[in-house]
Amino acid sequence: RGPVKNICCIGAGYVGGPTCAVLAWKCPDIKVTITDISEERIAAWNSEELPIFEPGLDAVVKEARGRNLFFSTDVDGSIAAADLIFVSVNTPTKEAGIGAGLAADLCYVEAATRRIATVSKKGAIIVEKSTVPCRTAESMRKILEAVSPSTDASFEILSNPEFLAEGTAIEDLLDPARVLIGAMPTPGGQLAQQRLAEVYARWVRPEAIITMGLWSSELSKLAANALLAQRVSSINAIAAICEKTEANVHEVSSACRLDLRIGSKFLEAGVGFGGSCFQKDLQNLIYLSLSLGLPEVAEYWKQVLVMNAWTKRRFSKDIVQKMFSTITSKHIAVLGFAFKADTGDTREAPAIDVCRDLLEDGAVVHIYDPKVSEASIDRALMAKGACSHTATKGKGYIVEPSMQQACAGASALVFMTNWTEFSSKQVDWKAIYQSMSKPAFIFDGRNVVKDVEALKKIGFSVYKSGVGY
Ligand code: NAD
Ligand code: UDX
Repeated sequence: RGPVKNICCIGAGYVGGPTCAVLAWKCPDIKVTITDISEERIAAWNSEELPIFEPGLDAVVKEARGRNLFFSTDVDGSIAAADLIFVSVNTPTKEAGIGAGLAADLCYVEAATRRIATVSKKGAIIVEKSTVPCRTAESMRKILEAVSPSTDASFEILSNPEFLAEGTAIEDLLDPARVLIGAMPTPGGQLAQQRLAEVYARWVRPEAIITMGLWSSELSKLAANALLAQRVSSINAIAAICEKTEANVHEVSSACRLDLRIGSKFLEAGVGFGGSCFQKDLQNLIYLSLSLGLPEVAEYWKQVLVMNAWTKRRFSKDIVQKMFSTITSKHIAVLGFAFKADTGDTREAPAIDVCRDLLEDGAVVHIYDPKVSEASIDRALMAKGACSHTATKGKGYIVEPSMQQACAGASALVFMTNWTEFSSKQVDWKAIYQSMSKPAFIFDGRNVVKDVEALKKIGFSVYKSGVGY
């Protein structure tokens, strides 16, 4: 097994696309083909308008594309030519059947594994990039061995979970905190691990490339996301206490951050965590704990999700209550729809839940997000069954082209994503206030407003998550 020269990535999504684009950019002598069954997605990757928004991604793709980076729907052909195959397909939570609502749906991993078994060349290294339950590599091996047409086929499977965060994916990929490569302790496993480590070593600090056992590597990904999500729920639990005691969660968290044992990051209180990973990976960990006969462990992690759901609901309830317990027919501007800034991704965005609650209570919702299209907003709200019970025509919500237009005529504005344009000095708050219906409320679920007093002076009633008044 020689050095890697030809890589295939199955799955051209938020992970496969940026990860392998950066790899191709950094290793011009390795041919990288990112393949997907979705023709629409591949066409977008081959166009001027990439299918995902990620700062810095355009430049990377445009430089490498056509040189040594290719996007193709020829899944079998791309697998057949590769000596290393990343499996980067989606692993959503199962919606039906055994484990529904908790277990990871591994049907896409299995489908990809079957194609690899059928068409890959002898000795190809298979890399789990998707987030999967612990010991998935074992199932993949069984499928590979049973399905492969060759009688002497031997497959090496590595675990190489991805830790990028959306919005900072390119930075994270260029200088990762760590790259984990898990392998079996066999000579074949160790050699495959070395081959993948050599690829990363082209641009990643050697001390950041960590090799370990396969099962530890698989579990590390679920553990890291569980710990991160738990921090957010923990600070949101403290925020709820602050709101009832006239304490300020931002002061409390800044005091906690100074303790090096606690650490300074990921203690931003708000309307709860969103994104495609935290909830799904926690559900995955809860299911794993239950399957292993560890109900107390499952219950512990479940509380992180309970706190998150409660935080979102509490935020909606507060809006209704502060607006004199009725929002029927009131216009409310929802500013930001993506689950965090610098991404157009709306998966599990708290804005979906909050918009649904506001619509159900009869508000007319005006949504503005700089990077989320109307079609994505429609899809996200429809999937959550969000609809207005009072709108006589239309959907009950309007997608607006600017912050100012969303706010004009509104009784309240609600910050759901911390886009920098919302806190920019260019925002003319006096003009926004004048354009709004009075009393004009601001509900800040993302710590966008820094100078509350200045806005109060203009006339706004300002409420921030985690700040008691
Ligand atoms: P995604 O839905 O954006 O992309 C997955 C892609 O795989 C889709 O385009 C789909 O069409 C394609 N696909 C599915 N089955 C296929 C098959 N058999 N052959 C070819 N293509 C196939 O998902 P994502 O956000 O990129 O996540 C992928 C994996 O990475 C998941 O396991 C996720 O948990 C993990 N992960 C995601 C993030 C993130 O920030 N999104 C971060 C770290 C890890
Ligand atoms: C997360 C992990 O950070 C990343 O390592 C993993 O690979 C994928 O899952 P991502 O979901 O893209 O990344 O974004 P992240 O920055 O973790 O934010 C997730 C959610 O938590 C966002 O809705 C964000 O607004 C929220 N959050 C984050 C908080 O509410 N408070 C914080 O202090 C941090």
